[in-house]
Amino acid sequence: MIITCSNCHKKHAIDENRIPDRPVRIKCKTCGYSFRFDKSEVQGREPLREAPAAVRRIGVCLSKGGVGKTTTAVNAAAGCALAGYRVLLVDTDTQGQAAYMLGLKPAGGLAEFLTEELTLPEALCKARENLWLLAGGKALAGVKRLIDRKDFGGELTLSESISEIEKDYDMVIVDTSPGWDPLTVNVLFYVRELLVPVSLEIMSLQALGSFFKSVASIQKYRPELAVKFLVPNLMDLRVRKKSETILEKLRELYKDTVCPPIRYNNVLSQAPMYGKTIYEYAPGSKGAQDFKELVRKITEQPDLFQ
Ligand SMILES: Nc1ncnc2c1ncn2[C@@H]1O[C@H](COP(=O)(O)OP(=O)(O)OP(=O)(O)O)[C@@H](O)[C@H]1O
Ligand SMILES: [Mg+2]
Repeated sequence: MIITCSNCHKKHAIDENRIPDRPVRIKCKTCGYSFRFDKSEVQGREPLREAPAAVRRIGVCLSKGGVGKTTTAVNAAAGCALAGYRVLLVDTDTQGQAAYMLGLKPAGGLAEFLTEELTLPEALCKARENLWLLAGGKALAGVKRLIDRKDFGGELTLSESISEIEKDYDMVIVDTSPGWDPLTVNVLFYVRELLVPVSLEIMSLQALGSFFKSVASIQKYRPELAVKFLVPNLMDLRVRKKSETILEKLRELYKDTVCPPIRYNNVLSQAPMYGKTIYEYAPGSKGAQDFKELVRKITEQPDLFQ
């Protein structure tokens, strides 16, 4: 048995049988300090177990609209699912575009699950192999009002419900709406990692600065919330110089957080019309290549899809 001196913290190996079963005083041979020791307290304890690997909780956020949040959330989630991860995609936007992009028309989704109008199996939609969706949609407007009416703890509404079901997945990816509303705040109180798509134009850099200020106000309460991935999106080779200057600026400011860019690629905007992910609609495209690269970065698996 190992006993640690409570004064000098030296660890001593002692034959367990030499220690009586009642509380005793033990003297440390190193510092001479004597302290109380109760063998039964130590023996009764469960051995320390390693905590199970936490489910990755990734929020795709930026208050600016049209920067590619939903395109990124859907294709990153579908890419991780293709790579074998079990992924839950949660759409917290009243526009409900994630379902449309995946070619689904679910009868309900996140709103009905949060208000308990539907049970989880009823609200959950299997989108692809390894990929499930809790769809967004207009009904989320009612959820926002519900959150607003709560006297306290409204910001934990999403977290309390999703934490209960996340154990079935390797990662939960949450798409958010533009702007800053009670549901966005809820997302920031649930996720641990933020993936922020930034379009390569100067206005986006400004939007990024003000978004980070808002995130910092939540980080005061949730220090574990971290901006992990900045994804330059819509890198337009037709205006290469401008895009590259902004990309350089991003890298200077945010260093390794900046991911390889997603290039402007028409097929990324066409695929949703057919309800297909980029890997299904145009597997050989630049868009598919760029999203596979992003999946490698998120999963830290450089050999995926090679
Ligand atoms: N890399 C890209 N190449 C070409 N088109 C793109 C690319 N990324 C996104 N788009 C297109 O840009 C438009 C906006 O993208 P998306 O809907 O993903 O943005 P969003 O940030 O989710 O918007 P919102 O803030 O309204 O939710 C869509 O038509 C989408 O198909
Ligand atoms: Mg969107």
